[in-house]
Amino acid sequence: MKWNTLTSLALFAPSHVVALLRFPCGQLMVDRVDPLVNPGMAPSPHLHQIVGGNAFNVTMDPSKDMPGESTCTTCQFSEDFSNYWTAVLYFKARNGTYKRVPQKQNVGFEGVNGGMTVYYMQDGLYNFQQTSKVTAFKPGFRMYIGDVNARTREEAERFRQLTYTCLENMNTRDPQTLDFPNKPCPAGIMTALRFPTCWDGKNLDSPDHMEHMAYPEFGTFETGGPCPASHPVRMGQLFYEVIWDTSKFNNKADWPADGSQPFVWSFGDGTGYANHGDYVFGWQGDALQRALDSPCYQNCPTLKSQNNAAMNACKKPGFVKEDIDGWVSILPGGHVANYRK
Ligand SMILES: *[C@@H]1O[C@H](CO)[C@@H](O)[C@H](O)[C@H]1NC(C)=O
Ligand SMILES: *[C@@H]1O[C@H](CO)[C@@H](O)[C@H](O)[C@H]1NC(C)=O
Repeated sequence: MKWNTLTSLALFAPSHVVALLRFPCGQLMVDRVDPLVNPGMAPSPHLHQIVGGNAFNVTMDPSKDMPGESTCTTCQFSEDFSNYWTAVLYFKARNGTYKRVPQKQNVGFEGVNGGMTVYYMQDGLYNFQQTSKVTAFKPGFRMYIGDVNARTREEAERFRQLTYTCLENMNTRDPQTLDFPNKPCPAGIMTALRFPTCWDGKNLDSPDHMEHMAYPEFGTFETGGPCPASHPVRMGQLFYEVIWDTSKFNNKADWPADGSQPFVWSFGDGTGYANHGDYVFGWQGDALQRALDSPCYQNCPTLKSQNNAAMNACKKPGFVKEDIDGWVSILPGGHVANYRK
C-alpha cells in the first residue's frame, strides 16, 4: 500500500526536500475531560489522553488566546500550543478486570513521554516535493472525527481513514483495519486518525464539530481528491498516530476464553469501530502557515523546537481524581466492554 511507502521513505528522507510536518507530542495528561464535546464537565463521560499546550482546560472558549495562556507545550515544536486528544485503550483480562494500556512514541522519538505523533501534510503525492499550497487552521478552530456509538463496519466506513495497525515491529504500517486486531501484536497497536481536509471557509466549529469540514469529493487528500464546492478550502492533512504498548498484555492465557480480542476503548467499545479524535488549534501567530509553506521534515527551519526534557517537563495535574491505572472491574465513568448497540 502507498502509506507503507510514505512511512519507510519518511523515516530516512533527507530533511531539506520533504513536505511533511511530523513531530512527537508527549503526554500532557490522562483525564476524564473533553472541552470540545462536553465543555464544563469534569468528569466527562469517558477517559482521554491529551497532548499539547497546558492551557488545556475543562472549558475552552474559542476566543481565548491559547498560546498566550499556555506556559508550555508537550509538542516538539514549541510554538504549537494546540491540543490533540483521543480516548484511552484498556485491556480486559480473562477474569473480567481492566487495566489501562500505556502509550509509547514512534521510532526516532524515543525518550518522549508517551503521547502521540502529529502530522500536518502539505501534499499527498508521496514524492515529498512541495507541489501545492494548503491553508493552516485559524485561531479558535476546532474539530472532531469519528463516532463514539459506531459498533459496525458500515458505521465506521462513514469515516475514510480511522485505522488500526498490528505492529509486528515498530516499522509495520500495513495492513490497516477498521476494527481492533484480533491477535497479539508484538510491538503494540497503532491507531491512525486522519481528519477531513476540506473547510467551509467560514465556521471555526459546528454543532457536531464535523460539519464545517468535509472529505474530498472522491478519493483522499493523499490521492489528490478535490474539495467539494460546499467546503472549498484545502487544508493540511491533520493526522495522529497513537501507539498503544500492548506488549505486557500479549499472553493469550490472559485473553478471553472464547478467543475474542481483549482490547476495549475507555467508553466501552470492544469492536474498535468507534475510534475518534479531537483537535483544538493553538499555534502561535502564523507559525503553522509558515511551516506549511516551506518544505520540511522534523527539523523545520521556520519553526522553533524544544528538546525531549522540555517536552516531558510540561505537565498538568488531573482535574478528576480517580483510579485510572489499577486493575478495575469497571472503566472510569461506569463503562463495560460492549460490542453491539
Ligand atoms: C481553567 O478554567 C478555570 C475556570 O474557567 C480558570 O479559573 C483557570 O484559570 C483555567 N486554567 C487554565 C490553566 O487556563
Ligand atoms: C485478573 O487478571 C490479571 C491478569 O492476569 C491479574 O493481574 C489480576 O490480578 C487479576 N485480578 C483479579 C481480581 O483476579
